[in-house]
Order: sequence, then structure tokens, then C-alpha cells
Amino acid sequence: MFSEVLQEFAEKELILPTLPLSYISFELANKDSPLPEAHLQANVPQPFEATKVLEAHVSKLTTVIEGEDVKPVHDITFSYCQADAGGYRHSPGDTIGVLCYNTEEDVEFILERLNLQSKGDVPCSVAIDARTTKKAAKVPLFVPAVVSCRRLFQECLDLRAVPKKLLIRALVPCASEENDRRFLEVLCCKEGNAAYERTVFQKGKGLISLLRLVPSCRPTVGLLIEHLPRLMPRPYSIANVYREDSGTSVRFLFSHNVNNPGITTSYLRGLEKGAKVFFYFRQSSAFVYKDTDLQRNIIMIGTGTGVSPYLSFLELRAAALARGETVGRAELFVGFRYRERSYLCEDEIKEYLETGALDACHVAFSRDTDTRHKYVQSQIRERRDLIIENLRNAHGLFYVCGDSKVLLPQIMDTVVELLAAEPEKEDREDIRACIGRLKKDGKYREDVWL
Ligand SMILES: Cc1cc2nc3c(=O)[nH]c(=O)nc-3n(C[C@H](O)[C@H](O)[C@H](O)COP(=O)(O)OP(=O)(O)OC[C@H]3O[C@@H](n4cnc5c(N)ncnc54)[C@H](O)[C@@H]3O)c2cc1C
Ligand SMILES: NC(=O)c1ccc[n+]([C@@H]2O[C@H](COP(=O)([O-])OP(=O)(O)OC[C@H]3O[C@@H](n4cnc5c(N)ncnc54)[C@H](OP(=O)(O)O)[C@@H]3O)[C@@H](O)[C@H]2O)c1
Repeated sequence: MFSEVLQEFAEKELILPTLPLSYISFELANKDSPLPEAHLQANVPQPFEATKVLEAHVSKLTTVIEGEDVKPVHDITFSYCQADAGGYRHSPGDTIGVLCYNTEEDVEFILERLNLQSKGDVPCSVAIDARTTKKAAKVPLFVPAVVSCRRLFQECLDLRAVPKKLLIRALVPCASEENDRRFLEVLCCKEGNAAYERTVFQKGKGLISLLRLVPSCRPTVGLLIEHLPRLMPRPYSIANVYREDSGTSVRFLFSHNVNNPGITTSYLRGLEKGAKVFFYFRQSSAFVYKDTDLQRNIIMIGTGTGVSPYLSFLELRAAALARGETVGRAELFVGFRYRERSYLCEDEIKEYLETGALDACHVAFSRDTDTRHKYVQSQIRERRDLIIENLRNAHGLFYVCGDSKVLLPQIMDTVVELLAAEPEKEDREDIRACIGRLKKDGKYREDVWL
């Protein structure tokens, strides 16, 4: 990849973007500058925050699915102090944001490349370089004024974000080898757009992969602070209800992509019972199931870990039934790979079916050979009347949980297909517009995973 790019651009003239002005100074701090124990972003404003960041501990952690040709799934519970949360009570459908840590492997790689292994834990101060000519220079909000290199790379900077062209431009003078400099020049200029797409955008793990290609490139810590984005918290859907009597805990399920492990899922998988963690409650979205919704008929659709928010819906319904209240009908549509090996929370679902908290569960198994329904869409098509009744009835609620790129649009397409086959059929665009209105009115509720 490296030599191909060099060959392709041999002797070609490149018009480089202007070198960005540097503006951060990163220097040894006063020796008596202890770093906080809490996650370094614990006091920074968080996206969609409903509470401040809470310190919690892992009170339960189980691997619920693992084995051949399945994505491992873990079921994890954080216990926290209700007073810290200011009395906040989460609702079914809500999410938390988990403050994460870059992997040790990535952090060690950067420390080694920057020749900082022996100084990784020394407190340093981050400030605006008095010599800079950059206007309105600011230290990013997510970088503390005093920090060690190790913790800066662990907790503050996204080491796997796709490097922007300006960062690559800034890296050019940091490479001592001519070929490395030329490679970086190609990637940051307009003429090298295709090479940038191939080598930086589509492949690898951001800065880490890029630096592996240019071994003589040793950027400064200040440069990385100037150019790397914030390591963002990741959202997870809460799988339990808030209960006064059960202590304050949040449960969620997450899957792990073994072939391409992510930052947070790697961090979460490495936790042990009792480990300290930092998270916050996010503001409720339209995807919420409240006491006032209990009487309504609901349809819930999800695949894999996308079943997890519905566990809290069902827990709320079960509690209402136990109090002698009546609840509307609830039907669940879920899809997994294998009936035997990856049917997530099967026992819980069965129990809810037995107690009446759930009226029916329609399951699809994508990788079983003897299955009639490969994907949930097939189950949905087979229950066309139910779906249409739910959407047309003013008291019905329709929930879908999944990623915004594939699952949510495909479920919407399936619903459009069903409605378009009605005798009084409308134009598909009109149906889409109608679903758009249902979303706005809070009847068609999506949990949008990225
Ligand atoms: C509102 C909302 C709620 C969410 N709720 C949940 C939830 O309850 N459970 C849950 O597991 N996730 C949930 N997610 C997704 C979650 O926030 C993370 O994006 C996910 O866990 C990956 O984070 P990461 O830091 O490990 O991956 P990153 O380091 O951000 O890397 C992402 C890349 O890693 C790969 N990747 C990592 N893990 C997976 C995986 N399991 N499947 C496919 N590709 C993967 C992908 O290639 C992806 O491009 C939710 C997302 C949103 C927006
Ligand atoms: N981007 C991320 O980092 C990330 C992380 C976690 C979860 N998610 C999203 O969250 C959801 C659940 O994730 P997961 O890892 O728990 O599930 P998963 O194991 O990837 O998939 C669960 C089931 O859904 C099936 N499926 C795949 N594509 C589908 C489609 N287009 N329509 C219907 N079913 C489909 C799978 O079938 P096959 O695999 O056999 O085709 C499998 O049976 C997914 O939407 C996933 O994309 C994204």
C-alpha cells in the first residue's frame, strides 16, 4: 500500500494544504499536581446528558452468548448511588453514556512512538503556547490542564478516529524519512484523494494504522491534542426499570465484534465484578415506554442486542400486572443467528410469556437451515394484519430498535410494503410521509443505534 502510493505519485507535483499553526504547549508540570482518580472526562459536559457523570461499580457481569459463528454478548449491571444521580429515575427506553478508555495496546503504541514510555505517568501541564500566532486558540474542553501522557491517550483522545487531512499535513514535518514524508504529503493533498480514501478512510484503526505505515513519524503530544477528536462516551440501552426497592442499578447488554473489536466493547469486556466505572444518564428520546403507555397495544421489533430495551418494557408491564393493573397487548419481533446458541434472554422472554407481560414472541433465526423466518422482516410480513391494525389504531404504539443504516430503514420499507398492499392502497411516497407523521406524533418510535 505504502510503496504503491509512492510509485503512483513518483515525480508528480503536489499542492500541499497550508501547514496548520501549532498552539498547544505540553510541558512538565509542578511535581505536586496529583491527577484525579475519576475518569478525566467526568467533569466535562456530556452529549445529551440528563445527569452528571456518576461513579459506579460493576455488580454483575455475565457472558450470555459465545461460541462458534456467534457474536459474544455480555450482560452487565452498574450499581450507583442514587444521591449522586440527584434522584434521577430512568424510564424504559432510556440510555446511558459510558465513559470509555482506549485499549492498552493502542496507548502503549502511541507512547512508544512518541518515545514517552518512561515518562508516561509524569504530570504535565497543557496550555496555549505563548508563541503561537493562531487566533482564538483554545485548549480543548476535554483535555485537563494537568494530565499525564498515558491518561491523556487512555481517556481523552480518540486514537482510532479517521485522521483528517489537516492532521496528516501537520504530521509531515514530524517524519524523519523522506519516503514517509512523501507518503503523508500524498495523503493530505487534493491529488491524493483516492489514496486517502483507500489507505486512511476505509482501512484500519485511525491514527494507529496510519502511524504504523510511517515508522519515522513522531508527532508531539501538543500536535495530537490540537488535532485528535474527543474520545466520546458510547450510548447503551438500559434493560431494567428503575426500582426503589432493588437499589440503584442499570443493566445493559452489549455485543462484541471479535473480528473488529471496538474501543468501548473491548474495555467493557475486560472489566471484572467490582470494577469502578463512569457513566451518566442520557436524556429520554422519543423511544420511551412510560406508565401512561401501559394500556396501549405495543409492537416491539429488534435484532440481537436490540432486544435489550424491551426487557425493561416487559419488566414495567410485569410490575403493573403484579399490582393488579390491566395492560394492553404486547408482541415482540426478534431475530438472532441460531435458535440453540444465540437466542438472547430466551428464559426471561419465556417467563414474560407465561406471566402475560408478553402476549406473543415472533422469532427469526438467520443462520439455522431449517428456519422458515430468516429475518424479522419475514415475521412482520406474515403478521401483516396485526402490524396494520397497530399502525392504524390510535391506541397502538410501534417500537423499532436497531442501526440507522440498515435495520431501521429496512423495517420502514417492510411496513411501507405492507401498507401499499392494502386495498385502499396509497402511493408509497404518501405512505412514507404518513409514517414520518407517525414518528413525529410519537406513535412510531425508533431507538436509533449508529
Ligand atoms: C442510542 C444508542 C443505543 C445503543 N445501545 C446499545 C446497546 O444496548 N448494546 C450495544 O451493544 N450497542 C449499543 N449501541 C451501540 C454502542 O453505542 C457502540 O456503538 C458499540 O458498542 C460499539 O462501540 P465501540 O466503542 O466498542 O466501537 P468503536 O470503537 O466505536 O468502533 C465502532 C466500529 O467497531 C465495530 N464494532 C464494534 N462492536 C461491534 C458490534 N457489536 N457489532 C458490529 N460492529 C461492531 C464496527 O465495525 C464499528 O464500525 C447503541 C448506540 C446508540 C446510538
Ligand atoms: N456499529 C456498531 O458498532 C454496532 C454495535 C453493536 C450493535 N450495532 C447494531 O445493533 C443491532 C444489534 O447488534 P448485534 O450485534 O446484537 O446483532 P447481530 O448479532 O449483528 O445480529 C442479530 C441478528 O440480526 C440479523 N440481521 C443482520 N442484518 C439484518 C437485517 N438487515 N435485517 C434483519 N436482521 C438482520 C443477523 O443475521 P446475520 O448476521 O446472520 O445476517 C442476526 O441474526 C444491529 O442493528 C447492529 O448493527 C451496531
